[in-house]
Amino acid sequence: MKSFEMIKDVYWVGAVHPDLRLFDDLFPTASGTTYNSYLVKGDKKMALIDTVKGIFSQDFLANLRQVCDPAKIDYLIVNHTEPDHSGAIADFLKIAPQAVVVISKPGSIFLKELLNRELNILEATDELTLDLGGRTLKFVIAPFLHWPDTMFTYLAEDQVLFPCDAFGSHYYNEKMFNDLVPDLRREMAIYFDCLVRPFKKKVLAALEKVKDVPLKIIAPSHGPIHRSNPLQYVQMYREFAASTKPAGDLKQILVLYLTSHKKTEALTTEIAQGLKTEKTQVKVMHVTEYTEDQLRDALEIADGLLIGTNTINRDVPRPIWNALSLFPTVSHEIKLSAVYGSYGWSGEAVKMVEDRLKSARLKLFSPSLKATFTPTADDLLQAREFGVKFAEELCR
Ligand code: FEO
Repeated sequence: MKSFEMIKDVYWVGAVHPDLRLFDDLFPTASGTTYNSYLVKGDKKMALIDTVKGIFSQDFLANLRQVCDPAKIDYLIVNHTEPDHSGAIADFLKIAPQAVVVISKPGSIFLKELLNRELNILEATDELTLDLGGRTLKFVIAPFLHWPDTMFTYLAEDQVLFPCDAFGSHYYNEKMFNDLVPDLRREMAIYFDCLVRPFKKKVLAALEKVKDVPLKIIAPSHGPIHRSNPLQYVQMYREFAASTKPAGDLKQILVLYLTSHKKTEALTTEIAQGLKTEKTQVKVMHVTEYTEDQLRDALEIADGLLIGTNTINRDVPRPIWNALSLFPTVSHEIKLSAVYGSYGWSGEAVKMVEDRLKSARLKLFSPSLKATFTPTADDLLQAREFGVKFAEELCR
């Protein structure tokens, strides 16, 4: 796609990737994506905001040459260093070595290591202002949307926010403006869920920083530009990032379990009884009966988490591994975790899940509870006591 003028003297100079079906090898993209880069021309100076994925470097430079002489660009603004936006920086700097790289402090560390070279860097802060001549760029440091380096750039006179990944969508449509394409809210919700959901508090912090900033346009780094009612998306992000925890003081306890022969389930039933107090609310989920989204929603409101697992072929069965893999995809606030399970002859799974919980930096209730084959009456009593003690520790 060719470059175009977004507003007077502000140009889209990015690249498009319509046939991409798995972004970052992780996230589905039904209609591809775009890598948006923007050129801002002032009366005296020019600034380029972000570049594109490396494989599109030449398309990007061709687009840039259509609207300016890249060798005369004064500033390269790097809102975020992930290679889908920084991949063309090396080629750009070959033809514009004079460009000052404006970037957050963490971003400067990342970019030097991505490019393995020294750079002419101006550190961006919330106080920094760049005068391009009749046009002013300001910066909003917005860490963890979704990397530690993330910042927004704001073009003050035109009230345009360039928030990099925030407010984006992995959606390609050559019309490139939200008022010319189908409703983006579903695509933006999927994108939020994939990229930003683990950082809900950071989203709210960033929204707080821009709440009084006048906005006519939000120009993200993926998908269409929001020039029609951009504030609807700010409100949408506010809703997406809001806590889903039930009101009240009850501690939410989530029990996720797998059971091949109803033995771990027998332990689960007793543990759940032990967990129930006037201070707790207990939700028990047999993991194979729920979708990944349902499990993620439950993890996100849990104060306490117990994992019940059997052992198969000296390992943790895949449905439990899958559930454990969801931690980095949600904003959880789990304060205490525990593991239990029935096994036949070796029982490695409980220890493996313990290690996973510890590596996720969750506090672990110990000792874990194990029982061989069919739990005995004594095992069941111990299971109930296990639940009681867990609830006591959580509510202490
Ligand atoms: Fe679109 Fe985090 O890069």
